[in-house]
Amino acid sequence: MATLRVGIALGTFRTSVVASNGAREHFGSLVGWPRSAAARKLIGEDVLVGAEAFRFRVALDLVRPFEGGVVPGTEVHERAVADLVRRAVKLARAAPGERVEGVLAVPARAARENRELLVRAAAGTMVVREVVPEAWAAARGLAPGDGAIVVDIGADSTTVLRFGPEPPGQDDVVVLPGGGDAIDLDLLARLRGKLPAGEFTVGGMRELKERYGCLLDADTALVGLPVAGRTAPVDVADVVAAACRAPVAGILEAVRGLIRPGLPGGPTLVLAGCGGQMKGLERMLAEGLKSMGGGRVTRVMEPVFAGAEGALSRLVGRM
Ligand SMILES: Nc1ncnc2c1ncn2[C@@H]1O[C@H](COP(=O)(O)OP(=O)(O)O)[C@@H](O)[C@H]1O
Ligand SMILES: [Mg+2]
Repeated sequence: MATLRVGIALGTFRTSVVASNGAREHFGSLVGWPRSAAARKLIGEDVLVGAEAFRFRVALDLVRPFEGGVVPGTEVHERAVADLVRRAVKLARAAPGERVEGVLAVPARAARENRELLVRAAAGTMVVREVVPEAWAAARGLAPGDGAIVVDIGADSTTVLRFGPEPPGQDDVVVLPGGGDAIDLDLLARLRGKLPAGEFTVGGMRELKERYGCLLDADTALVGLPVAGRTAPVDVADVVAAACRAPVAGILEAVRGLIRPGLPGGPTLVLAGCGGQMKGLERMLAEGLKSMGGGRVTRVMEPVFAGAEGALSRLVGRM
């Protein structure tokens, strides 16, 4: 019987899948079920996932099973994981009758605590060969060498871990609360402090963060924002830079605790997760490493798919 091999990264915010047949897809890690018989009739589906679930959110009971970095052991959460995996496998386009097996890459705490739940939840669709931390899987494609340190900034947490040929043990992983979403909220508070008459949204803050990242203090960035009922030019450079830089000290502290002593030239930091895409972050971290004896900073090439690729590479020796 033919076997399709898949790597699935189940993030708090996004799920991505790659397969040995070349499939590559992603969708939001959000599952919704109709709230009532009337809603079920209107929507015409028993389960909605990702953008579809978001679109019909008012008519659905919604779950983000990996929110908080670990799946609570309730039936509802297990069902949500099963639905995410089913969608991922469907998008991987297995041929009729084809067996599906794969590796799941998940938040570091879930990898440690949820293995059985994940294997069970996926069992209806695929055989799970292994469960690994996504941050570790994401760095595999770069083959950064022993002693490298991965910094994976997701939506609601940041994972810092020491890289090695096998998945890290508990002592090699630090999970910092707060990721991209915390930056958005911090930015919102700072901008409201600066302009109390502003009508700002979290979504708008997220756009600013993704557009500008850690700007230099000296830069100006004029953006049209809604203030007191009309669009006014606002210089957002200082607040955006401050919010995006706020997590850097905590990340460097975690890195310091994971640096292997005596590593010549210092460690390689690998930035993963889409928060790792933040502009200027590479330079800020490189500056910070100088005070710890040096090191270099690099980025995974495709942050959306790196975790899934790294998971798949456990089964097909491409890396
Ligand atoms: N270019 C970018 N610059 C800064 N942040 C980004 C960028 N692209 C995505 N992000 C942020 O990354 C976070 C999501 O990370 P992701 O790895 O997709 O989620 P998760 O691992 O939690 O499922 C969000 O906070 C999003 O705003
Ligand atoms: Mg991620």
